[in-house]
Amino acid sequence: MTNATADLPPPPTRYRDPLHVGAVRLPSRFNLAPLAGYTNLPFRLTVRELGGVGLCTTDLVNARAILEGIRKTMDLLATDPAERPLFVQIFGSKAAEMAGAARWLVDRGLADGIDINMGCPVRKVVATGGGSSLLCDTTGATVDLVRKVVEAVPVPVTVKMRLGWDDDQLTAPHFAREFEKVGAAAVTIHGRTREQGFGGGVSHDGIRRVVEAVEKIPVFGNGDVRSVADAARMIDETGCHGIAVGRGALADPWVFRQFDNWVRTGDPGPRGTYAERIGFMRLHLRRLVAWRGGEKYGCVQFRKVATWYTKALRLPKAVQQRLVMLSDLAEFEDVIGPFAESGPPPGWGEWDAQQAHVPVPAGPVAHW
Ligand SMILES: Cc1cc2nc3c(=O)[nH]c(=O)nc-3n(C[C@H](O)[C@H](O)[C@H](O)COP(=O)(O)O)c2cc1C
Repeated sequence: MTNATADLPPPPTRYRDPLHVGAVRLPSRFNLAPLAGYTNLPFRLTVRELGGVGLCTTDLVNARAILEGIRKTMDLLATDPAERPLFVQIFGSKAAEMAGAARWLVDRGLADGIDINMGCPVRKVVATGGGSSLLCDTTGATVDLVRKVVEAVPVPVTVKMRLGWDDDQLTAPHFAREFEKVGAAAVTIHGRTREQGFGGGVSHDGIRRVVEAVEKIPVFGNGDVRSVADAARMIDETGCHGIAVGRGALADPWVFRQFDNWVRTGDPGPRGTYAERIGFMRLHLRRLVAWRGGEKYGCVQFRKVATWYTKALRLPKAVQQRLVMLSDLAEFEDVIGPFAESGPPPGWGEWDAQQAHVPVPAGPVAHW
């Protein structure tokens, strides 16, 4: 990770050409990676408005829960005409269920495409045979699952996966090739194994092998991209056709605009200012309230993200303590108003904010 914009390499010219995933044309080659609990409708809408975002994908959604019409699952499927294109990410291990859920979504106009989760390392998901455990089955069942989903819907079907289960089973290149053969329209590859969780480095070499394994479909590189310099290195070292950014987008929603500026002009342009960050936080909260259908519920949802906002804005501990217990919009204005007026504290810089830490599950992966 580096802050050097002066010595950024020129953008690859091919990145100026429009990229398609199946028949869906992407506004840019920089996608928002799904982050369960964070990349819901309010966040996606607010990021997209800043510009530069290609594809957005919902948080992972349980295929069976879609078919059963579970209320909480339906909330995750909330969308808005302004956030197109949108893919819905589904997880599960049963081909018929996955295909049925995909059809259900497309029949209701809820998805421009379907993304299949094969990366999630969390026990709850892996125990069902879904998520990254699908990367262990090279007998054909995993490929068959993708084929069945592709056959079930007229929209593009993509797969998001890790390099494999562990260093002894780096199955992603094999699967990427097989998925393409049965009609997958793109692959997103997080350059870590399941065993790694979020630790260790991202293997650009591993991502490159996936890029080389496919013939025509785009491969989106993913993992630890926080800045234009990181993106430039990922593109250079992997040859990926596009990039998916997760935690970097939480820390700095303006990063897509910077990618896009860099691709078009060679200059990433400005980062989000202090005032823009406060504006973003306010809008995010208001949309959470609208999405959850009430101040109380929206504020409870906001508590989850309050800490990374306060860190990025370097707000005092007392502010953080109030925001993580927030209960209504008036209180938010009461707490934040003075900072919106006073501007950034001495020493605050856009770059530091961009590097704000985003928490990930900790401890042994098998216990998550
Ligand atoms: C809190 C959290 C939730 C995540 N949820 C999902 C998810 O629902 N679906 C998925 O495919 N990946 C999920 N991921 C993985 C990210 O999409 C991404 O692959 C990973 O964070 C690496 O990219 P990044 O360094 O840009 O964040 C999640 C990651 C985190 C930290």
